[in-house]
Amino acid sequence: MATHALLSILAITSSTLVAAQSPTTQALEPLASKHFTYPNIPYQVTGDQGGIRGPQFGFNLCNSTTENQQSNCQTAFVNSIADFCMWSSDQPNDTVGESEAREVAWCTTPGHGTRVIPPGTITGAQWLYAKDYVQVVGFLDQSKVNLNPTDMGGELDPHGADEQGNPLGGIVFTNAFGVNSQQFQSQVSSNNLAGSQTFTQVIEWIDFIGSGMFCLKMCNPDNPNAPQLCQHIYDEIGCTYNALANYGAINGTFQVCDSDDMTPPGVFTQNGQVTTWFQPQAGPVVPPYTPVIPSSSNCVTYASTQLWAAAATDTNIPKPTTSSSSSAAAATGAGSGTTARTTSGSTSSPTASSGSIPSVGGNGGTLPFIAVGLLTTLCTMMSMAFLA
Ligand SMILES: *[C@@H]1O[C@H](CO)[C@@H](O)[C@H](O)[C@H]1NC(C)=O
Ligand SMILES: *[C@@H]1O[C@H](CO)[C@@H](O)[C@H](O)[C@H]1NC(C)=O
Ligand SMILES: *[C@@H]1O[C@H](CO)[C@@H](O)[C@H](O)[C@H]1NC(C)=O
Repeated sequence: MATHALLSILAITSSTLVAAQSPTTQALEPLASKHFTYPNIPYQVTGDQGGIRGPQFGFNLCNSTTENQQSNCQTAFVNSIADFCMWSSDQPNDTVGESEAREVAWCTTPGHGTRVIPPGTITGAQWLYAKDYVQVVGFLDQSKVNLNPTDMGGELDPHGADEQGNPLGGIVFTNAFGVNSQQFQSQVSSNNLAGSQTFTQVIEWIDFIGSGMFCLKMCNPDNPNAPQLCQHIYDEIGCTYNALANYGAINGTFQVCDSDDMTPPGVFTQNGQVTTWFQPQAGPVVPPYTPVIPSSSNCVTYASTQLWAAAATDTNIPKPTTSSSSSAAAATGAGSGTTARTTSGSTSSPTASSGSIPSVGGNGGTLPFIAVGLLTTLCTMMSMAFLA
């Protein structure tokens, strides 16, 4: 009896140790290597574990039953200026630093099984159909998507120190590659805002949010240069270096243009030499160049009511529902989406002290430069702490 009891204790102890070690010792498949053909998506793309920061907070199989203001759907669509999602926190008054691993999709329109961005949140936006990417940038009241209004935010991307992405397990689809400004204009005039129902997974993307601003860039995987155009290592220098646009002219307008590709972030020409600057791992982050905004054409300005009719004509956002099936079109009850959730996936988030985020010089435009990030640094520090 005594021997058996001792043996089982040993067995339990050793299996516990194995289980505790496996997330750090196993090489998990990087999120950016996981490719899906819509609509064949698993419940969670990470599987059960999700590595040292796992398990995945939300889920990827999203549909009308998951569409409400408490949805933890982590599948985003970036289809057009009328129909895109951004990542933000599941809990009110949060910061990107705290919530990056568990962020969920917030979309301009119902239909993706996600939370819907409340009407009036976005005060200006510009969508660019570039040759090898699509990009949407703009201004918003970030408190309406659960961020503290003073949060300087940071970058979400499908990498991170453990390569499981921020949010962990977040995936993105689009129907926008191959579309241009004129075709989008026809979609608007023929009242077909949804566009094609064939969706491509975006493998390399960046998504910044913070300081009342957001920018999303989705690089076309058909272009081998996609990882450079959507480079994720410049997380501290914000939208004005990573997603080039004329930010000073965007707030208060809703515009769609065609565009040339930008030069990949970090790459610049000096005295005729093409040079690549890398963001330093420590110390002040001061890019040695002013980015050149690529030229755009065929710009069309829209009224926000033309773009976000479903979300924007209701002054109330869809009510959180407890019933199993709900349509987001049934909209009553403003200011919902505030139910506190436990953050099971992120018990060891570092505390992001916004006061310590370095601020950097201007971008030559009219806006104050917005320094965002520290997230890669935080992730690296975090995983080093875990691994140590
Ligand atoms: C809808 O999503 C839920 C939650 O992910 C899932 O359990 C269910 O199977 C989905 N339904 C369909 C028809 O895909
Ligand atoms: C939001 O969080 C900040 C910092 O923790 C706190 O000072 C503030 O009172 C909070 N605001 C609300 C509306 O809860
Ligand atoms: C953008 O415009 C809105 C509404 O006019 C304003 O409240 C907000 O402060 C502006 N954002 C920035 C960053 O200037």
